Amino acid sequence: MKYQLVKGTKDVLPEDAPRWRLIEEKVRGVMTRYNYREIQTPIFEETDLFARSIGPYTDIVGKEMYTFQVRGGKSLTLKPEMTAPVVRAYLQHHLGERAGLVKLYYLSPMFRQDRPQAGRFRQFHQFGAEAIGSADPRIDVETILVALRIYQELGLKNTALLLNSVGCPRCRRPYEEELRAFLVGRLKGLCPDCRARYRKNPIRVLDCKREGCLSLLAGAPMILDHLCDECREHFGEVQHLLKALNISFEVNKQLVRGLDYYTKTAYEVISAELGAQDSLGGGGRYDLLVSDLGGKATPAVGFAAGMERLILVMEKQGLFAGDKPGTVLFIAALGPEAQSRALKLAETLRGEGVPCELDYLDRSLKAQLREANRQGAKLVVIIGEEELKSNEAIIKDMKGGSQEKVPLEGINSYIKQKIKAGLQ
Ligand code: HAM
Repeated sequence: MKYQLVKGTKDVLPEDAPRWRLIEEKVRGVMTRYNYREIQTPIFEETDLFARSIGPYTDIVGKEMYTFQVRGGKSLTLKPEMTAPVVRAYLQHHLGERAGLVKLYYLSPMFRQDRPQAGRFRQFHQFGAEAIGSADPRIDVETILVALRIYQELGLKNTALLLNSVGCPRCRRPYEEELRAFLVGRLKGLCPDCRARYRKNPIRVLDCKREGCLSLLAGAPMILDHLCDECREHFGEVQHLLKALNISFEVNKQLVRGLDYYTKTAYEVISAELGAQDSLGGGGRYDLLVSDLGGKATPAVGFAAGMERLILVMEKQGLFAGDKPGTVLFIAALGPEAQSRALKLAETLRGEGVPCELDYLDRSLKAQLREANRQGAKLVVIIGEEELKSNEAIIKDMKGGSQEKVPLEGINSYIKQKIKAGLQ
């Protein structure tokens, strides 16, 4: 074959599409119940928006962005995540001026040029929520509840919630010195990326997945043990609220997330079903991002979750069983005149809201019935030459096997009644 899809991308074929729709509808339904409103942003943004928000020493900015130069020299980047574009839109359209707390959700493709593997794609899709304007730990918890509710209502089993606090600049700075003091004797063993991180942003070293670096991190100081009073209290309150809601979680001191904008709460929902790429979704607080991008100091929190990974887990757990194509009615016709009557009848029925299909391949009656069966039709209308002469059609109930003759005049109303009566 001459052309194949690009490595790390995926086609959504007709048999996959209902799965995507099921999840999208669940996401929209839950988001609406929690009063998050939809936002859409362009596929690309100025490169600097991402470099500044996500952080220059992260894997995403360092090696995974699809960046290109346009005429005039401007550098643009396909969005690798949505938090920065959402904050950009929040500021650009002054969304915060109309409401103290702005709650937004999205469903969108993202692009990261990482090494493809199970559950990791170069174009993937996220759903997510951002709540901009409140520092209250209850809203941290609300974003967690939104994510967990979506998973729970989709029937997901065996997920775990990991929780940490990554502090704020006040506690982070003295902590970073302590971490540097721990790492300095181990620098030779660290990978080149981590050696750069050591200087610029040492907490990123904790996020390195390389075996060599991981083994050197045993006994490293953890930010959770160095929080300032305010961050410690906030973290305590988040845990207290989760316990009061009977949400189980695990504190994971090493969870620092792959993006630099986080402050205080950081969390991830993982699934054992996913293997190495076990993160279904993740998020946290980013109290400094709005001001970093030019707005006034505005606390915020949110999460994003991968659609492909969710589908993978749902497939493994058999949660899609039973989805079927939905042709209700097939119109089988024989001969040009009957075929033209069939087309007219189909058009009338489709106009009245009945999904139906007909034969465009001049097949025999037997082959048309086989096709109707393959498509899962509940009813078949048969119009042949004889039926045309008597101005009647045969209606065949595909499940029970019964047949009846019905006048062509007014047959659309008769069919609709039959479908309403429970054939659907
Ligand atoms: P993230 O952890 O980079 O966070 O991505 C969130 C989720 O997107 C992951 O847990 C995973 O399910 C999915 N994901 C990420 N990369 C890939 C990939 N290459 N292939 C497939 N799925 C992937 C963020 O993006 C933050 N913006 C989340 C956030 C929102 N924080 C605050 N608000």
